[in-house]
Amino acid sequence: MNILITGASSGIGRGLAVSYAAAGHNVIAIGRNKVALDELAILGISCIQLDLVNLDAVREQSALLNKTLNNLDLAILNAGNCEYLDISSFDAALIKRVFDANVISFANSLELVLPLLRKSRNPHLVGVASIAGYLPLSRAEAYGASKAAIIYLLDTLAIDLAKENILVTTINPGFVKTPLTAKNDFPMPFAIDVNAATRIIQRGIEQKKIEIHFPFRLTLVIKLLGLLPRRWWRYLGKFLVR
Ligand SMILES: NC(=O)c1ccc[n+]([C@@H]2O[C@H](COP(=O)([O-])OP(=O)(O)OC[C@H]3O[C@@H](n4cnc5c(N)ncnc54)[C@H](OP(=O)(O)O)[C@@H]3O)[C@@H](O)[C@H]2O)c1
Repeated sequence: MNILITGASSGIGRGLAVSYAAAGHNVIAIGRNKVALDELAILGISCIQLDLVNLDAVREQSALLNKTLNNLDLAILNAGNCEYLDISSFDAALIKRVFDANVISFANSLELVLPLLRKSRNPHLVGVASIAGYLPLSRAEAYGASKAAIIYLLDTLAIDLAKENILVTTINPGFVKTPLTAKNDFPMPFAIDVNAATRIIQRGIEQKKIEIHFPFRLTLVIKLLGLLPRRWWRYLGKFLVR
C-alpha cells in the first residue's frame, strides 16, 4: 500500500510509520523536525519536511507528490499539538495556535491527500482526533474544541466522500505516552505506550472500523458521561482531569 502519515516524526505517527514500513508498505512521512525525519529515512521511509499550517507550502508539495506518486491507499492525518489554557489569564493567541496546529493543518492536509486518494481503488482516510473532543474537560478549551471540530469534520467527510467510495475512520485516543503528553502535570488514567497504541490503530484500520477509540476502560466512561444531561457533566467535569 502507499501510505501517507502526517505528524510522523514523533509519538503515535512515528510508531505507525515505522510499523507500516517494517511490514513492507511504501510510507511517506510528514513532519517538521529534520533530525527525526532523517532517522526515519534510514529505515527506507520517504520523508517530507513540511509545516502543514503553511497552505502555500502544502500546495507546492501537493503538486510535487501528484507528479511522483500514482495514488494513496491510506492517509493518516495525525499531526497535532496540545496546549492547556489558564483561565485566569485567557489567551486568545493560544486558541489560535492550537486550532492552527490541529484544525488548519488538518484542512491543509486534506488538499494534499484527497486528489491522491481518489486515484486508489480502495482509498481510506483516517484522522486522529481525541477523547477530549467527546465532552468538555478542564483547561482543554482550545485542545478539546479543536478535536471536537476534527470529529465533526471527519463525520461530515464520511458522508460526502461515501459516493466516491472513500472510507473515513476517526481515531479517538485516550492517553498515550508520547512527547505531547510528557508535558502533562496530572495523572493520566490507563495511559498506554506508543507500541500498544500503534497495534490497536493498525488493527482497527485493517478491520476498516469507522471509529477506533482506546483504551476501552477510559473511553467507555467518557462516552457514558457524554450521555448524561449537560448539567450533570458540567458538574462532574469539575472533578475530572485537571
Ligand atoms: N498522546 C496522546 O495521549 C494523545 C491523545 C489523544 C489524541 N492525540 C493526538 O494524536 C496526534 C499525535 O500526537 P502525539 O501524542 O503522537 O504527539 P507528538 O509526539 O507531539 O507528535 C506530534 C506530531 O505532529 C507533528 N506536527 C505538529 N504540528 C505540525 C505542523 N504544523 N506541521 C507538520 N507536522 C506537525 C509533529 O511534527 P514535528 O515534531 O516534526 O514538528 C509531530 O510529528 C495528535 O493529533 C494528538 O492531538 C494524542
